[in-house]
Amino acid sequence: MLPFRATMDAALQGRVALVTGAAKRIGRAVAVRLASEGADVVIHYHRSKSDADDAVSEIEKLGRKSAALQADLCGVAEIQRLFQETAERFGGLDILVNSAANFIPARLEDTTEKIWDTALDTNLKAPFFCAQAAAPLLKKSGGVIINFADIGGILPWTGYIPHCASKAGVIMLTKCLAKALAPEIRVNAIAPGTITMAGDPSEWEADFVRRAPLRRAGTTDDVADAVSYLVHAKFMTGQVLILDGGRTL
Ligand SMILES: NC(=O)c1ccc[n+]([C@@H]2O[C@H](COP(=O)([O-])OP(=O)(O)OC[C@H]3O[C@@H](n4cnc5c(N)ncnc54)[C@H](OP(=O)(O)O)[C@@H]3O)[C@@H](O)[C@H]2O)c1
Repeated sequence: MLPFRATMDAALQGRVALVTGAAKRIGRAVAVRLASEGADVVIHYHRSKSDADDAVSEIEKLGRKSAALQADLCGVAEIQRLFQETAERFGGLDILVNSAANFIPARLEDTTEKIWDTALDTNLKAPFFCAQAAAPLLKKSGGVIINFADIGGILPWTGYIPHCASKAGVIMLTKCLAKALAPEIRVNAIAPGTITMAGDPSEWEADFVRRAPLRRAGTTDDVADAVSYLVHAKFMTGQVLILDGGRTL
């Protein structure tokens, strides 16, 4: 029998994945993981062109096909173009990972209309319209959608009210899409706690570690493991995998 890693290496051969916000950070780690399991991967980016080009090179070095496609996901026409271009260049779609987001601090008194719209458009409207645009392609392939929520969609953080509302919306969106798109397409979400990444304020990690029973922050590998699990979890839909070292307990 082949060892587990060797079987996973080819598990997604011939599949096409699109990861939004995949030029860097979590999206990139997920894209590289899917490629390492055999998938061809579309790297969606908004402003980070050179990081997106690097991600494409990293995936091509794994022997997979990749391309960097640009779109501002706040605009529905741009989303539709992104999926049309994916279909034309890759011939279809099997896996959609909605990772792109923002994380805007805003309390009750300092939330402007612009902040509210930017948080909700990027974090909630975009995954909905990405799912809508991807659905005809994913129906053909019997595909899967993985959304990114946040434990901030479960815990009310008064310093991030629009963010929390947007991510709570992603949790309900996941359940609605799972029902609407069954039985052909499975839809699940991941709600991470703090994931350690270079450049993030060290106090975020310290505060999280203090509160999390497992006494550490997450890593991009932890997130990639969860995405891989959901891609392969054939009897699971409409669920939210809370990946937080026990922080919400
Ligand atoms: N990091 C954490 O600890 C953590 C915790 C809980 C949940 N999450 C969730 O996990 C996911 C990934 O987290 P992350 O920290 O890697 O995300 P991130 O760095 O905040 O954002 C990922 C990408 O989203 C893209 N993006 C932002 N606005 C966009 C727009 N209008 N149109 C298109 N793309 C846009 C950006 O692409 P460009 O750079 O190309 O402009 C950015 O690189 C997010 O959904 C996040 O909410 C993360």
